[in-house]
Amino acid sequence: MPLTKSMQLVDTHVHLNFDSFAPDIEEVAQNWRSAGVVRLVHSCVEPAEFDDIRALADRFPEISFAVGLHPLDVEKWTAESAQQILTLAQSDDRVVAIGEMGLDFFKADNQALQEEVFYGQLLIAHQLNLPVIIHCRDAAARMAELLRSFWAEQGPVHGVMHCWSGTPEETKWFLDLGFYISFSGIVTFKSAVQVQASAQMVPDERILIETDCPFLSPVPKRGERRNQPAYVRHVAEQVAQLRQVPLESLAAQTTRNACQLFNLALPEQLPHSILEGCAIA
Ligand code: NI
Repeated sequence: MPLTKSMQLVDTHVHLNFDSFAPDIEEVAQNWRSAGVVRLVHSCVEPAEFDDIRALADRFPEISFAVGLHPLDVEKWTAESAQQILTLAQSDDRVVAIGEMGLDFFKADNQALQEEVFYGQLLIAHQLNLPVIIHCRDAAARMAELLRSFWAEQGPVHGVMHCWSGTPEETKWFLDLGFYISFSGIVTFKSAVQVQASAQMVPDERILIETDCPFLSPVPKRGERRNQPAYVRHVAEQVAQLRQVPLESLAAQTTRNACQLFNLALPEQLPHSILEGCAIA
C-alpha cells in the first residue's frame, strides 16, 4: 500500500511483545508505517511485561503504552500488585492508560476475584487520572453495574471498551458512562451482525479502531494466523463502509478520538521521520 500522508491511523490496541513478533518486528513496523499507522497504544496483560513494552517504545517512538493486569491473569494479583502498577505507571510519561483490565466470564470460575482486581485497577486509574482499557467478555451487564457503582462511590473514570463485541443495547450502556468503543477485526467477520450494528450506532466522537494483534486477523487477512498493526486499515475500511462515510474521514475521526482519549501528540506534531518511515536515531 502506498504511503498517503492524508491517511493517518492509530492502532489503539497491540501486543507486539508477544513471541510471534520477535523474528521480524522491523518489517512489521515498516508495514504499519506504509499503511499510515502513525500511533500505536501498546496494551499490557501483566506488569511483568513492562520492561519489554518500554523497550519497544524506545525502538519505535510512535508507541505509547499501558500497564495493568488482564482478567484472565488475575491469579497473579498479590498484595503488592496495586502499588506496583501505580509505581510503573508513574515511572514513564509514555504510559497513557491503565489496562488492560476487566471481566472475562467466558469459562470463568473466579468472578469474585476478577471483580476485586478490576476495582483495584479502577482506583489506580482514578488516582492518576488516566483512562482505562477494558476487556469485557460475556460480562457486559456486570461490567456496567460495577462502573456505575464506581462512579457513585469514587467519581468518574473514563476509557475504552476494547475489542468490542457487544450488542447495540450493551454499547449504549457504556456510551452513557462516557466510554469510547473500539472495534477490532471482529467487525469484519460476516457472522458479527450485532457488532456491526454497534459500529453503526456509536457517535463519531466516541469511536476507535484497533487490531488487538497478534490476535483476530481481519477479513481479508483472516487466513493469516498472526495479525499485525498494518491491518487496522482493514478494520477502518469496514467501519467506514458500515457507517457510510469515506475512509479518509473515518481515519481522521478515529485518529482524533485516540489522541483525545490517550492524550497523544497529534500525528502532525510527531517527528517527521516517523511519517517518512525511518527510525529515529
Ligand atoms: Ni489485548
